[in-house]
Amino acid sequence: MSDLILQMRGIGKEFPGVRALTDVDLRVTRGEIRALVGENGAGKSTLMKVLGGVYPHGDYAGEILVDGVEQVFSGVRDSERAGIAIIHQELALVPQLSIAENIFLGNERVRGAGRIDWGRTSSEARELLRRVGLDEDPTLPVSALGVGKQQLVEIAKALSKRVRLLILDEPTSALNETESENLLALLGELKEQGITSILISHKLGEVTRVADTITVLRDGRTVETMALSGGAVTEDRIISAMVGRDLEHRFPERTPDIGEVRFEVRDWTVDHPTQLGRRLIDRAGLTIRRGEIVGLAGLMGAGRTELAMSVFGRSYGRYVSGTVRKDGTEIRTGSVADAVASGIAYVPEDRKELGLILDDDIRRNLTLAGLRRVSRRTVIDPARESVAAERLRGQLRVKSRDIFQAAGNLSGGNQQKVVLGKWMFTEPELLILDEPTRGIDVGAKYEIYLIIQRLAEEGASVLMISSELPELLGMCDRVYAMCEGRITGDVARDEADQESLMRLMTTTGS
Ligand SMILES: Nc1ncnc2c1ncn2[C@@H]1O[C@H](COP(=O)(O)OP(=O)(O)OP(=O)(O)O)[C@@H](O)[C@H]1O
Ligand SMILES: [Mg+2]
Repeated sequence: MSDLILQMRGIGKEFPGVRALTDVDLRVTRGEIRALVGENGAGKSTLMKVLGGVYPHGDYAGEILVDGVEQVFSGVRDSERAGIAIIHQELALVPQLSIAENIFLGNERVRGAGRIDWGRTSSEARELLRRVGLDEDPTLPVSALGVGKQQLVEIAKALSKRVRLLILDEPTSALNETESENLLALLGELKEQGITSILISHKLGEVTRVADTITVLRDGRTVETMALSGGAVTEDRIISAMVGRDLEHRFPERTPDIGEVRFEVRDWTVDHPTQLGRRLIDRAGLTIRRGEIVGLAGLMGAGRTELAMSVFGRSYGRYVSGTVRKDGTEIRTGSVADAVASGIAYVPEDRKELGLILDDDIRRNLTLAGLRRVSRRTVIDPARESVAAERLRGQLRVKSRDIFQAAGNLSGGNQQKVVLGKWMFTEPELLILDEPTRGIDVGAKYEIYLIIQRLAEEGASVLMISSELPELLGMCDRVYAMCEGRITGDVARDEADQESLMRLMTTTGS
């Protein structure tokens, strides 16, 4: 048998008006962990969908060989039969069903007469959960699990189909540090058991740590494949292959022009929406000046998103108390409409859930939060709407055919740019960004940084939540640290470094 478990040769794929892949070659050696990287819209997910039978034979050019044998997949089932399983960027579990039911969905363990064999279902599920290191009762509904654990259920599901080539499309983008570490360790264990994997990720740190080789896609073409052993391949080296040029600075230069205190949050206290008496935010206070970019650092569970969402029209939590002042005067933030009317915008972390109407086109998604600006009296003026959307699309460099493409057809990172654009269009006075560059490639990150800086230059106050400390240090004038619902520090840019922030983020205080 050939050493190559997979060969994809000369793969081409077109969507109406978009050439997503051109003459792509991918050769994967049995037993390796291969990383697949590239900018948003480079074609990573599309290539894996071709491999997974999502786009059946005849829908793409080129050929696929598994173990040296040419494959003609007419659907996902065919590729599964060849031992290939894909865990997509968007998880595909059914929340109401149990863990075990999800694992064997479409592949039920039956006895005679098509009746489900619950005994086997649960004992096999238990065994699979053990293999992926998930200590949960298989009868639990999937909705009770966090994203990290759902990811593991997906892997258990893949294992149940005797997967030999496991593909993970940005598996850690929604996971916290510990969950990511566990998942990456699991890939290593599966490798020991002879399972080959392909890992798509924008987190170059984790890629260089776990992968054996890395393939870079750019504009739908394979640029190069590099062996990572020996440690000669640096992140900068990978980045320049991804973007086709050297990136000298990861953060744009800026001379801040900071004015008076614009927004002030005082004594902000929030309880958990369902767990009675559980305090999530405890008397938090912060100020943001005109033209200032302020960071909010904290570990998972510190309460950063809860703080942001509750300030944004109490869209989270119970018994919210405290005050928000603008230019010294208390403002109403009792509902999202109040918050928006007071000039506050919030770009959520989970952009898929809260941000976009996937069936609608890019144009409408971009202008949705500010339709007033493109309307005469109460009627939308299509020409003005298109002009505005076209301008935003250009500024954000959204990779799409035009503004009339459905938002759901954009690559993951480009969808995120649209959500950012949507809130920028409201020209907020206080822009709260929750993990604004999660899932965004390095080149596009730089562009998003520029946009954030430009908004600040125009006088907006920006509050930026990020789990990447280098990003906060590179972008912010000042950083607040949070730990367990409390603000534990307020550090000016010149005095902040990763260690000092980390210390504040893990200080419980009193
Ligand atoms: N169903 C579709 N219809 C039209 N165009 C599509 C469709 N799916 C993908 N595309 C386009 O194909 C190109 C490649 O998209 P793909 O999702 O493969 O990118 P990606 O490398 O996975 O990016 P990301 O890192 O943002 O997830 C993009 O220009 C995208 O807009
Ligand atoms: Mg993708």
